[in-house]
Amino acid sequence: MLSPAVLHRIKAAAHVCVFTGAGMSAESGIPTFRERTEGLWAKHDPLEVATPEAYKKNPQLVWDWHVHLAEKVRKASPNAGHLAVAELQKFVSRVTVITQNVDNLHQEAGNRDVLELHGSLFRLTAFVDEVEASANGLTPAICPLCKGYAVWEHCDHFADRSDLEEIELAAGRVPRCPGCGALLRPDIVWFGEMLNPRVLEGAVDAADSCDVLICVGSSLEVEPAASLPYRALRRGAAVVEINPVPTALSATADASLIGKAGDILPRLLKQVWGIEIRR
Ligand code: OAD
Repeated sequence: MLSPAVLHRIKAAAHVCVFTGAGMSAESGIPTFRERTEGLWAKHDPLEVATPEAYKKNPQLVWDWHVHLAEKVRKASPNAGHLAVAELQKFVSRVTVITQNVDNLHQEAGNRDVLELHGSLFRLTAFVDEVEASANGLTPAICPLCKGYAVWEHCDHFADRSDLEEIELAAGRVPRCPGCGALLRPDIVWFGEMLNPRVLEGAVDAADSCDVLICVGSSLEVEPAASLPYRALRRGAAVVEINPVPTALSATADASLIGKAGDILPRLLKQVWGIEIRR
């Protein structure tokens, strides 16, 4: 499966990055986004369910879509691929997982250093209108009254906004800050939004400093995440890709392993360190 040269580089690596996309969790029963018939974006228009504009216009629809996805994700368990990635921690001094997934399955499998580029389905944050916020000089903060919910520092000011009242009328079961009543949302990066700069910086540092990057189950169509494997390649890391179909990265990667994460990752561990992963 791996050439002797790539095998040697993995075995000698002090820092391995595992960069993952939706394909990593496909065998756990969570749909990917861009696959032609079963992908989430084949069935739903992302502009209607995954943008701040959509949430402002129809919070209930967007909230219900996320609740439906969260129900699928809650039923899922880490697959053999996730377990293999966690197992890497026994053989490599530093393993950083950089994931585009919002399903928490790498953490459930036991990975300790996980950077969630696109957030998490299981956290809420304030619904912040960034443009209006900066115009009004407001900053979101953790409200001591609300015990960990991210809300506005100036709740009353925010609650006075007339567009918020309109949203409240339409909101139904959409979550609200129990302290100030402000609209909350899933802590996920929606289309057109910036990534959390601290998380992105951590991911760039990891891609720049790793000896090996293993890219698993991503179409590499979404920036800035998609640039990270190329960045590692340019910095001299060995890049291994795992995907059932070739991507734009396949031709330049040091190894392109065609197959499913749950098959290939355990085989990679067996070939490099001679260990078996149980399913
Ligand atoms: P995509 O749906 O774009 O791509 C999934 C990739 O996984 C494809 O290349 C498949 O060939 C591959 N794949 C399918 N089954 C697999 C398996 N069993 N093992 C390994 N690979 C498999 O998903 P992402 O690249 O993750 O953003 O998409 C990136 C972002 O686009 C997502 O994070 C999401 C979406 O809009 C947000 O939600 C913010």
